[in-house]
Amino acid sequence: VRVAPALLAPAIAVDRRSATPLYRQIYEAYRNAIVERRFRGGQRVPSTRSLAAELGISRIAVLGAFEQLLAEGYFESRPGSGTFVAAALPDDLLRPRRAPSPQTARRPSPRPVAARAEALLSDEPGPWYRGSRPFHPAEPPIDHFPVDVWSKIVARHARSTDPRMLHHAAPRGLPALREAIAEYLGAARAVRCEPDQVFIVGGSQSALDLAARALIDPGNPVWIEEPSYLGVRRALTLAGARPVPVPVDEEGLDVTAGIGRCANARAAFVSPSHQYPLGVTMSASRRLQLLDWAQTCGAWVIEDDYDSEYRFRNLPIGSLQGLDRHSRVIYIGTFTKILFPAIRIGYLVVPADLVRVFTEVRRGTDMSSPTLYQAALADFIREGHFARHIRRIRLVCRQRRTALVEAIGRHLSDELRVVGDDAGMYLTALLLRRTADREIAERAAEQDLGVPPLSACYAESPVPGLILGYGGTPAEEIDAAVAGLRPAIEAAPLHRLRRAAPRSR
Ligand SMILES: Cc1ncc(COP(=O)(O)O)c(C=O)c1O
Repeated sequence: VRVAPALLAPAIAVDRRSATPLYRQIYEAYRNAIVERRFRGGQRVPSTRSLAAELGISRIAVLGAFEQLLAEGYFESRPGSGTFVAAALPDDLLRPRRAPSPQTARRPSPRPVAARAEALLSDEPGPWYRGSRPFHPAEPPIDHFPVDVWSKIVARHARSTDPRMLHHAAPRGLPALREAIAEYLGAARAVRCEPDQVFIVGGSQSALDLAARALIDPGNPVWIEEPSYLGVRRALTLAGARPVPVPVDEEGLDVTAGIGRCANARAAFVSPSHQYPLGVTMSASRRLQLLDWAQTCGAWVIEDDYDSEYRFRNLPIGSLQGLDRHSRVIYIGTFTKILFPAIRIGYLVVPADLVRVFTEVRRGTDMSSPTLYQAALADFIREGHFARHIRRIRLVCRQRRTALVEAIGRHLSDELRVVGDDAGMYLTALLLRRTADREIAERAAEQDLGVPPLSACYAESPVPGLILGYGGTPAEEIDAAVAGLRPAIEAAPLHRLRRAAPRSR
């Protein structure tokens, strides 16, 4: 027998001192709620006994009201299961259509939304991002995630009776996780920080948002990479910043070009270890030039180190933050690429003198991240599962990348040229003979292949290409998926391009 869940008390109030009898007050409260559609047809109502107890009145008044509502067809009773709001409502059926009053007949009044919010509508994700499909660029190898280990750790913390697990969490996050992250970043990324400078947030997107809110005033010019990650553009649009696209070449962001375009920008948002989407690594001289510019002009550098764990050949490149001698860099990392996207945990490392302002901005936004996952993740790292998982999926991703590069060589070498470093969970391929990358991406999405067009990452002068994720696609499925892409490419018109493109490696 299915037991219906306990019903919430309806939002009705009775007034004992009113001249209207109690049964009438209850009757009217239900009738109005039903006519105004605050209750759905078929919705269960509480028993007369529990409603009387809830309202602290005699059951006789409630019985009287329910009888009336049943008699008029607002309620119906189902023997053995209780009383329900009628599926077909009498007033609805009987009420004549009223002529619109002069007030409602007037032109609808405007329904304004913020211009910054409206501006996001032009960047709505295309069909290539929907669902989980071969080549989705943001998918890690979740098929290798140790779900059994993770679920045991989560369950252990979910059962905890420690009140700290249930109280408000600190805006920066759980100390145990901040310590684990600071230690990891020091060793793996040459980041120089104390746990006090670490903020645990909801993935790198919230980190970008928090940095933009804390550092940028409306109208401030801000360098963004051209091409860049859409999430950076979103965060800056919401902050009211004025993005200044700065070209990226084979050495990363062209700092001289940035200075030429806007020397006094408030900040630069960059992905130096594996530029999104071109996949290049920022050279040492550019790093120093960028830091020098930031120090000279009083600008901030926001370093998005979103997929630094995935480097396959040469040694990992240290972070920009680790080179910074003037505390100009805000470092961002995420667990969504290395563990699984739905975990929505990322982090920032902020200069010590910015901790206070970031803390207060955090209090003004989402306050803190859920404690349960933070505690579980701290243990997952401390017990060594994180390091083991990184080692395992680095190999997996490397195999998947090799399979993808080889398959492109077999099936599409006349159409695509792979650019960027041997790193990451995706690669970018320039289209050699066609420009309509959006059209190709839309057609590929119909074949259930998720390849975003490269041109969508450009603000000013788009270069056509495709972004192919391999992190989430098993090596043995890659050949067929690449072959499946050919018809979508061939359906686009041929066009010989003459342009300087990033050097392939
Ligand atoms: C450059 C870049 N930064 C950040 C992210 C997103 O990370 P998160 O899921 O942590 O918000 C992505 C995801 O695709 C990315 O490509």
